Amino acid sequence: MFRADLADLPAYVPGKVLPDAVKLSSNEVAHPPLAAAREAMAEAAQGVNRYPDMGAVQLRTALAEHLELNPEQVAVGNGSSALCQQLVQIAAGPGDEVLFPWRSFEAYPIFARVVGATPVAVPLTEDGRHDSAAMADAITERTRVIFLCSPNNPSGAAITRQEFADFMARVPENVLVGLDEAYIEYHRTEDTPLAPEEIAHYPNLVGLRTFSKAYGLAGVRVGYAFGQPEVIAALNKVAIPFAVSSVAQAGALASLAAADELLERTEIVVADRDRVADAVGARHSQANFIWLPTAHAAPVAESLMAEGVLARAFPEGLRVTVTTPEENDVFLAAWEKLQPRL
Ligand SMILES: Cc1ncc(COP(=O)(O)O)c(C=O)c1O
Repeated sequence: MFRADLADLPAYVPGKVLPDAVKLSSNEVAHPPLAAAREAMAEAAQGVNRYPDMGAVQLRTALAEHLELNPEQVAVGNGSSALCQQLVQIAAGPGDEVLFPWRSFEAYPIFARVVGATPVAVPLTEDGRHDSAAMADAITERTRVIFLCSPNNPSGAAITRQEFADFMARVPENVLVGLDEAYIEYHRTEDTPLAPEEIAHYPNLVGLRTFSKAYGLAGVRVGYAFGQPEVIAALNKVAIPFAVSSVAQAGALASLAAADELLERTEIVVADRDRVADAVGARHSQANFIWLPTAHAAPVAESLMAEGVLARAFPEGLRVTVTTPEENDVFLAAWEKLQPRL
């Protein structure tokens, strides 16, 4: 019944959920959505007998203002995951290649496989950075889409401006580059390319952001992509109709209007993440998680789970979300008790 290549499609593994455990496995925020967002969503819920605004005009207009772009340069989607997948759908098919750093967001290879394209994973450097020279070397005539992830999930390292410029200089103009900035609201060093500015220099560049992380709206699923109007129009062509619910549109709109409160919340994470990293010997991170490279992440995650802390194990390491000082202390207490050998 199924496509022959479907067997190669890896399943997306979500972060574990366990009642009463401290969930540090999906890079969510500990706080509920901002009060204004909760109210707006409750109100929007009253009208869900109607379809949402398919063009998401109000939200796209507000996002365009926020990014200093035009509304035709912004698309919204069912989480930025959907937009990443759409980016692959508009450019790649069987026999084509989709290039990305690895380890990175685990859905990139899945999105490549969905369209029958070949995922090409380029290992990060030892210190968790994009190996931009190796990535540029890996571009072939078949490369159709490239993902960059800054700050990178799960290593927490951001790309520098120089690395980005050197890399883009080697990308052919007809290859789409998705700069995935899912964690950009947590980034604090000056030296990183910002997609809203960079898209003016590179017509093949698309920025990808989300309301799931810093904005605390992971459950309603809304993300956005921005770039040149032709690319945005192409992304919208392959979108599922009405993919962003009216509740999600209302929540995102209200959250955008509460920028100060949002900054306050991200500051709570930023202020504590170096303390957490230092306590467990991890590198400092530009995102809301820390990364411990190890081949023994699975048993460590199991032991942490027995202590009521859910972390995320990958074959290459352990990722732990940084949230409030209280939750971070629960993790650190469990860590100290276990004294894991990595
Ligand atoms: C790097 C990166 N990009 C994109 C996403 C997708 O987020 P969402 O689909 O919730 O917007 C995630 C979520 O974990 C992520 O880590």
